[in-house]
Amino acid sequence: MIHVGYYNGRIEPLETLMIPAGDRAVYFGDGVYEALLFRGRILFGFEEHLDRFENSCRMLRLPLPMSRDQLKAELMKCVDATDSPDGMLYWQLSRGTEMRHHDFPEPDVRPNLLAYTKPMAMPTFAKKRRLKTVEDTRYLHCNIKTLNLIPSVMAAQAAKEAGCDEAVFHRGETVTECSHSNILIFKNGVLRTHPADNLILPGITRMHLLALARDLGIPVEETAFTLADLREADDVLVTSSTVLFSTAEEIDGIPVGGCARELCGRLRSAYMEKFNTCTSSK
Ligand code: PDD
Repeated sequence: MIHVGYYNGRIEPLETLMIPAGDRAVYFGDGVYEALLFRGRILFGFEEHLDRFENSCRMLRLPLPMSRDQLKAELMKCVDATDSPDGMLYWQLSRGTEMRHHDFPEPDVRPNLLAYTKPMAMPTFAKKRRLKTVEDTRYLHCNIKTLNLIPSVMAAQAAKEAGCDEAVFHRGETVTECSHSNILIFKNGVLRTHPADNLILPGITRMHLLALARDLGIPVEETAFTLADLREADDVLVTSSTVLFSTAEEIDGIPVGGCARELCGRLRSAYMEKFNTCTSSK
């Protein structure tokens, strides 16, 4: 199967997979999700994604319908059924299927697990990003990886229509993150990014990158920065599980970065090594 679809234990091509219209993901986006890369059918950062998934579920009081080991086994069924050994795995858990009412379903309603895989070329780290700034009109729970992504969808589309690859969110002058990535800057040798509070998603790639920077002796500051800091950065880094990390070449049509190449190169090499080591079979 090219795109393997999974719903509550049933596996079939994603293109024909049906789910009930009463799934609360359909009308409330009432659920959480994760997305990560696999290479040679080895999932990169699986444990970290599972940790964040469990945390998102806990914050939404969404009960896990199975143990962590069972969940891993179910998701691996999806990966194993995929033709390509390299790709992306997506999964989401919704608060079950019931007639629409806002409060939680009856306790005997089980959450629904949906997953799918998509073959994908592995990131090359080479592509430079063009960014567009967009006011961050999201709510105050951006740390929970919920299915409610409308402001991100609108921002990503605005970026695309402006000929850009990603939208950079800002609340007033403060830069938070991107529509589906985190953002970091290098200035005077220091790697800086918004703290992992309720205004950003605690990205797994962001977390890996900060740990690698610390290992390399690169100073890290988890403090918010402004739009002016972004425009004057020595380099701008964008991170996500599907692209891993890339640098920006332009923000709102104005060239940016290119002045911390050596530091970016060291981080890139360290990240590539981590990715290659974690996804090469033992
Ligand atoms: N997006 N911030 C937001 C708002 C995101 O949606 C994502 C991930 C990130 C980066 O997190 P991570 O490094 O864990 O992927 C930051 C995924 C890829 C998506 O929505 O498909």
